[in-house]
Amino acid sequence: MSNRIDTTRLQEIARAYTASAVLYAALDVGLFTEVSGGCRTEEALVTATGLRPIDVDRLVSCALSLELLDWDGAELCNAPDVETYLVEGKERYAGPWMMFTRPDVSGWFQMTEKMREADSTKLGMYDELTVESARKYHQATSSIGFGAARRFVRTVDLSNRTHLLDLGGGSGAYSITSVEQFEGLKATVLDLPPVVVATQEYINDAGVEDRVSTIGADFTEGEFPSPVDVVVMASNLPIYDGEVIGGVVARAFRALEVGGEMHLIGEMLDNDRKSPVDAAMWGMNELICGSQGRAHTRAECENYFRSAGFVDVEVTDFVPGILARCVGKKP
Ligand SMILES: C[S@@+](CC[C@H](N)C(=O)[O-])C[C@H]1O[C@@H](n2cnc3c(N)ncnc32)[C@H](O)[C@@H]1O
Repeated sequence: MSNRIDTTRLQEIARAYTASAVLYAALDVGLFTEVSGGCRTEEALVTATGLRPIDVDRLVSCALSLELLDWDGAELCNAPDVETYLVEGKERYAGPWMMFTRPDVSGWFQMTEKMREADSTKLGMYDELTVESARKYHQATSSIGFGAARRFVRTVDLSNRTHLLDLGGGSGAYSITSVEQFEGLKATVLDLPPVVVATQEYINDAGVEDRVSTIGADFTEGEFPSPVDVVVMASNLPIYDGEVIGGVVARAFRALEVGGEMHLIGEMLDNDRKSPVDAAMWGMNELICGSQGRAHTRAECENYFRSAGFVDVEVTDFVPGILARCVGKKP
């Protein structure tokens, strides 16, 4: 009996876009912020959002069924993750990151055409960056990146290190958080020229100008500043193919002092490529953004490290289901 199949799972996949659309709309109208602020009935939400009662009814039903909202007796409340990350004004508000890929929605629904009439460049969307778009981009990445960076400094002890090179460091989240945590450490954020203008603003806001510097460059080309004793590359992995990532890892190896370490943090597929879905989707995202990137497996990442000469190479979960971390040492 347990082998009976039906269409439930396939129907869910066919209509999965509806969940994204509801989340975007809920954020647009500030649903979770209003609930957190005390609008715990639909009547109160109608007044606070200015929406028609029927639309509040529809939105609340969707949010309850997606487990974004819950009941606290007769009143509505936010699910714990929603209360932490989706309430505007709270320290860990990650709304900009949740909305980050919304402009790509129409592109995802042109996937077939994009595959049939392939048009890609090595840098994809990064060819077009301006200082303004980089600022907007990193408003989104920083809303999640500083949390990841705090996890990094809790996981990796850099107390004996002196200079960290942060490849594609964006907002500088990893560099800023690392120098704040480890007294003797300095850091250099290497990112594309328009981006490091925005990076400098985050560095200034954190007051760490004397310990974090920037270099505007394309990490797919040229040698890296040297010597350094730690290299971090975070959340860039699926943007590039194996040849580019292997080349970056090899040049990072050359830039490191003997005994130095590299951490590659990214969305990695399990070796059988059956999960996580998110890693596979970030690989597909590169079709939508017009680069030549793809999802990489954990074994492929280990192989980039070993081929470059790293030893003690291993991949562990970083944010389970989302990010993994490949580490290696220069012998
Ligand atoms: C998703 S963000 C991650 C930022 C940061 N590492 C973090 O985890 O918060 C990717 C970053 O990689 C940078 N990047 C992508 N391709 C690059 C390249 N070829 N050279 C330098 N930086 C690059 C982007 O500009 C962007 O800042």
